[in-house]
Amino acid sequence: MLRLSSVPEVRKLLVPMRMTGMTIGFVPTMGALHNGHLSLVNQAVKHNDFTVVSIFVNPAQFGPNEDFGRYPRSPDEDLQLLQESGADAVFMPEVSEIYAAESPKIHFQLPEIGTILCGATRPGHFEGVLMVVSRLFNIISPQKAYFGQKDYQQLQIITQFTKETFSEVEIVPCAIVRENDGLAMSSRNRYLLPEERLQATGIHQTLQAVKSKWLETNSIEDAIREGNGVLNNFRLLKKEYLEIMSADLRPVSSTRERANPIALIAVTIGKTRLIDNMFLEKQPGD
Ligand code: PAJ
Repeated sequence: MLRLSSVPEVRKLLVPMRMTGMTIGFVPTMGALHNGHLSLVNQAVKHNDFTVVSIFVNPAQFGPNEDFGRYPRSPDEDLQLLQESGADAVFMPEVSEIYAAESPKIHFQLPEIGTILCGATRPGHFEGVLMVVSRLFNIISPQKAYFGQKDYQQLQIITQFTKETFSEVEIVPCAIVRENDGLAMSSRNRYLLPEERLQATGIHQTLQAVKSKWLETNSIEDAIREGNGVLNNFRLLKKEYLEIMSADLRPVSSTRERANPIALIAVTIGKTRLIDNMFLEKQPGD
């Protein structure tokens, strides 16, 4: 596996590949890799001639009071995992390589779906995500880029943005990978103290309760009430939001007519903020 840290190095490697018709798959990450990340890498390796994974903790997507400084970093372990996963190259740039002082700071206009849920509680977050994704797409020019459904709102925003701005890049959505007890894998799970880790299973249990009530009653109000009831049993979980929306993140009416509802949740446990989501009805491929 090749290790790259500068933009010219990446271009020198990838431009000739593209000219000979090789397909390039790309998996952007912030490192502290787990099996959720690796499932994206596995799909990229399967579907492309050459797979690049980036590890870059992007300062632009963290708010001033968020965890940029203490975000988990484990480069040696990450490199080992990527080596075993079959990735062809890892791009680990310094901040100055991505945000060179002289490069213009483009302001990204978020689509409407960027202003709700996490967009409402983390101002500037999705602008920062779009900024880094667009820089990385410009550097790597992949045919396919892989993103997890775990960050469902991020996936929707990036898919919409990419259609408009990088129409040659295909966004491939990837299923959520969970621990045995249902907790969605996340780099931030490393922050959890043992008691917090136990209570974190309440996030998945809340989503399951929402889903079964929805299937039983078709009522958004009942389903959310049920979810809140379960969530209240976990005293360390503080709700930021629990909502049911359509798959394209529009409000849903109380009936089943608006197809494909999804429940989305954000909680904090101590200083750790975690998100998760679950489709409420059977999905193609389930
Ligand atoms: P990060 O949190 O490291 O996640 C990288 C990718 O892995 C994202 O597409 C995310 O949705 C996916 N992922 C994380 N946990 C997952 C899980 N349990 N199952 C499936 N996929 C999972 O998301 C980011 O980094 C950043 O915002 C980034 C897109 C890299 C831009 O900086």
